[in-house]
Amino acid sequence: MDPDEIERIAVLGAGNMGHGIAEVAALAGYHVTMRDINEEFVQNGYEQIEWSLDKLAEKDQISRDEADGALDRVTPVVELEAAVGDADVVIEAVPEKMDIKKEVYREVVEYAPPEAIFATNTSSLSITDLAEVSDRPEQFCGMHFFNPPVRMQLVEVISGADTADDTLDTIEELAESMGKTPVRVRKDSPGFIVNRVLVPLMNEAAWLVESGDATIEAVDSTTKYGIGLPMGSFELADQVGIDVGYHVLEYMHQELGDAYRPCPLLAEKVEAEELGKKTGRGFYDYE
Ligand code: CAA
Repeated sequence: MDPDEIERIAVLGAGNMGHGIAEVAALAGYHVTMRDINEEFVQNGYEQIEWSLDKLAEKDQISRDEADGALDRVTPVVELEAAVGDADVVIEAVPEKMDIKKEVYREVVEYAPPEAIFATNTSSLSITDLAEVSDRPEQFCGMHFFNPPVRMQLVEVISGADTADDTLDTIEELAESMGKTPVRVRKDSPGFIVNRVLVPLMNEAAWLVESGDATIEAVDSTTKYGIGLPMGSFELADQVGIDVGYHVLEYMHQELGDAYRPCPLLAEKVEAEELGKKTGRGFYDYE
């Protein structure tokens, strides 16, 4: 597909990443349908976009007209057919579980136009395995945004075994048209590049605290003021979602071995549903 022909983008999932990607796409002028499985989820995502656009306008990072225009271009929907029926590109950002994502693709192929490109925002899962359940492995690739999408510059563009070069070129141009910097990932390996580096850092930080060798605050100070990252490891886990990091680690553990065994501290947080900013509590409190 010629990148200039892209007008309509369907974003599947209205969570942290889904609503952020929908916002970025709408700001770039695309018509966006944002879909989740119930009214509450999709409405919550829409309100988050509204909040974010207001913040950007208040700070003069965009004009009031740009904020209103972007919001007008987002249509929240629950029906899958309404979301993908006339999409040029479908960006999927549903939970980071292979079986959930596969289930979504099995359904999406029933309604999406045959020429539509499928781009998954998976953080770690095999693009090739996901593409296999779609009817279009050549038009299927990874398009991995970072949290929060409206502030983070990078997009990883990942090829599956059968992805056509045209598809990768189009998705790179799409990322650029959204004001992002795409980086092509040559190999479809667990965690791609960023999470292969970043998630073990979060895990190691958790092991340090689990073993009693350091406090959360001490680890975060060193991550910020010693390593120079914009956030401490635990602040970052709260930003990304502790469940997201945990699922990525579980998958890397399964695929790459024991070096990636998730620290029990992360599992406890997931079990307690203290997932970070999005639930109001994670390693820190946000209420
Ligand atoms: N939209 C609009 N405004 C937002 C926002 C959003 N989505 N998110 C935060 N803000 C606002 C805050 O509310 C705050 O506003 P106030 O000043 O009014 O309180 C303001 O932005 C904070 O911005 P600052 O410029 O003061 O802060 P900052 O320069 O520290 O930037 C940040 C914030 C961009 C999040 C920065 O801390 C950062 O880069 N953190 C690291 C994030 C990161 O590494 N993300 C990748 C994680 S890995 C991942 O996502 C992939 C995966 O697969 C797991």
